[in-house]
Amino acid sequence: MTMASGRPLSVGVAGLGTVGGGVLKLLRENAGLIAARAGRPITVTAISARDRMRDRGENFAGLRWYDDPVALAADDAVDVVVEVIGGAGDPARTLVLNALRAGRHVVTANKALLAVHGAELAVASEEGHAVLAFEAAVAGGIPIIKALREGFAGNRIRRVTGILNGTCNYILTTMRERGREFSEVLADAQKLGYAEADPSFDIDGVDAAHKLTILAALAFGRPVRFADVHVEGIRAISSLDQSFARELGYRIKLLGIARQTDAGIESRVHPCMIPETAPLARVDGVYNAVVVEGDFVGRVMLEGRGAGAGPTASAVVADLIDIARFRTTPVWGADSRHLSDAPSVPMSAYTGAYYLRLMVVDRPGVIADVTCALRDAGVSLESMLQHGRSPGEAVPIVLVTHETREAQMRAALDRIERLDSVLERPSLIRIEHG
Ligand SMILES: NC(=O)c1ccc[n+]([C@@H]2O[C@H](COP(=O)([O-])OP(=O)(O)OC[C@H]3O[C@@H](n4cnc5c(N)ncnc54)[C@H](OP(=O)(O)O)[C@@H]3O)[C@@H](O)[C@H]2O)c1
Repeated sequence: MTMASGRPLSVGVAGLGTVGGGVLKLLRENAGLIAARAGRPITVTAISARDRMRDRGENFAGLRWYDDPVALAADDAVDVVVEVIGGAGDPARTLVLNALRAGRHVVTANKALLAVHGAELAVASEEGHAVLAFEAAVAGGIPIIKALREGFAGNRIRRVTGILNGTCNYILTTMRERGREFSEVLADAQKLGYAEADPSFDIDGVDAAHKLTILAALAFGRPVRFADVHVEGIRAISSLDQSFARELGYRIKLLGIARQTDAGIESRVHPCMIPETAPLARVDGVYNAVVVEGDFVGRVMLEGRGAGAGPTASAVVADLIDIARFRTTPVWGADSRHLSDAPSVPMSAYTGAYYLRLMVVDRPGVIADVTCALRDAGVSLESMLQHGRSPGEAVPIVLVTHETREAQMRAALDRIERLDSVLERPSLIRIEHG
């Protein structure tokens, strides 16, 4: 192993919350082995957060403190800025852009910033000859960025499928295991610290969509296109859907899927039913996993913790070690001028099988009305489930379709929703192979 005798890599950390705190702790506790692997010590010399007086359980003596994180970008004694503030806007965006333009390397965990401004950041990285590294931005401790950008670099990637949000996976797993409703499990997850006070980014699928945007850009060598991702969250999943899924041999997961098709690139985040025997079906609780399918490598799955101070710091420090060793790759895997302009495929062109659960009044003719609406839209049924009878009362019926185009399914659904006998908003979940 190379002796750790080079000039220390000087790091400025912007943000001292969960991730920033974890990075400081990891750099301190594993300093010896990190220096050996990096070929030189990695030393934090400057920091920034909002509240200077807050006790963070760390000794900051001797470090330069900045009230304004953007000032870190202009600190000539800093080689690398670690941006762990968060948010697609300022100060994170200006900090990262200014640092890159000044030729300072940046390591960030900020998926929102990358998903929304990734193209602009890549140009700044190229113009400033500075590295922009972001292993921590997707699936926490799982080295999926390195895998896609380096490990699978020789492959044409066909599909990337991920459980990318631990909060949603925890909620769906707990609903299934305990037979509980979404709102109760969410409230418990908030008490346990698995869900934010404002959980909408997680449960509405936005966080997973940010991560999928990044994975799709790397997998298909195309600039980030967050606006083209179809996004649905998990609020509408009920425990009834969970028990029907079990009966049909499926598990419900919020998946992010990016796929190369003949028409272009499809990218979508939505709840899916996947066979309970699929490897992703067994990834439960707060765990994340990503399956990559490449033309030469075949199918590979990586699983691990998607969030938390330890896993996220592990990813940030791996990026710092690469920078210390001068190991670099272009932001999106190829220089901006070599990125593809493959079009995005709209969700209306998606084709797949669907699970449709309706709450209907149990009276003669209802099933005929529903199946007519499906037939007229060109949707063919594979199976139907109904348990017991309750004449005049609300009963659930479940329909499973053959492969159908989304646009046809939507047309059928519009008509079904307007039937008097259909009492609630139907639950529609796409069936995937996982
Ligand atoms: N938490 C995770 O497990 C995780 C996992 C993967 C990626 N990430 C990403 O990592 C980033 C940081 O997340 P986090 O969970 O560590 O957030 P956090 O705990 O809320 O910490 C944010 C830090 O940024 C500082 N900050 C906020 N606004 C600032 C401003 N205007 N100027 C200076 N400092 C400011 C805060 O200062 P104060 O402490 O003074 O308030 C705090 O130290 C986000 O992009 C997040 O998406 C997080």
